[in-house]
Amino acid sequence: MDIDVFTLFPEWFAWFREQRHVRNALAEGARLRFLDFREHTPLSGGQVDDTPFGGGAGMVLRVDVMDSALRAHYGLDPVELPRRRRVIALTPAGRPLDEEYVRELAAEPALTLLCGRYEGFDERIVEHFCSDTLSIGRYVLAGGELAAMVVCDAVLRKLPGALGDASSAVEESFSAALEGRPEYPHYTRPAEYRGWSVPEVLLSGHHERIREWREQRSRERGE
Ligand SMILES: C[S@@+](CC[C@H](N)C(=O)[O-])C[C@H]1O[C@@H](n2cnc3c(N)ncnc32)[C@H](O)[C@@H]1O
Repeated sequence: MDIDVFTLFPEWFAWFREQRHVRNALAEGARLRFLDFREHTPLSGGQVDDTPFGGGAGMVLRVDVMDSALRAHYGLDPVELPRRRRVIALTPAGRPLDEEYVRELAAEPALTLLCGRYEGFDERIVEHFCSDTLSIGRYVLAGGELAAMVVCDAVLRKLPGALGDASSAVEESFSAALEGRPEYPHYTRPAEYRGWSVPEVLLSGHHERIREWREQRSRERGE
């Protein structure tokens, strides 16, 4: 898996890159790059945005700036790019991210994520350079960086070797093992705390009853 994130704030990702499952995925051969698209702007003074045609508040990220950044990095006309890799514009009104979408992305060899800022992208960036628009939820963040981290996190933890214990991802919320349902509740020590007890069956050591109890709780959560 090869993931490139185009952003105006690559330094935001320094912390993210150091997280255990991210480091594990990188050690297993995944590649993760954070690219500042301001570096390749053809405009003076590092300009990347401009006022919207038709008027209105805010600034819009320019298509010529994104064209230069993608062209400089990939060495081709970015209209060719979506035929070679998934190019994803992060945008509040995009396709909602869910488990199915994450699985689809994790199966790709290469992803490019474009982080917007201000009022977002000139629509020609989305139309001509992107294969997807992706939303992490129906609310508006100040920029695409946190959305990119959400996507990278969800995708990288699907890769072999990313999690300390690979079996954690086998039976978890929305997995095939749970037929797409939410996971059942977990408990740990102490078995009794402030009068709140752990369900008796979990202390019974009876594997079949525990399995049935968990399946039942998962079904109830999925209703
Ligand atoms: C302030 S938002 C732009 C909002 C845009 N004017 C609108 O109303 O849809 C700036 C950038 O943050 C990112 N962003 C904000 N909310 C997001 C979300 N829910 N999912 C994915 N990206 C988001 C996008 O990259 C977007 O271009």
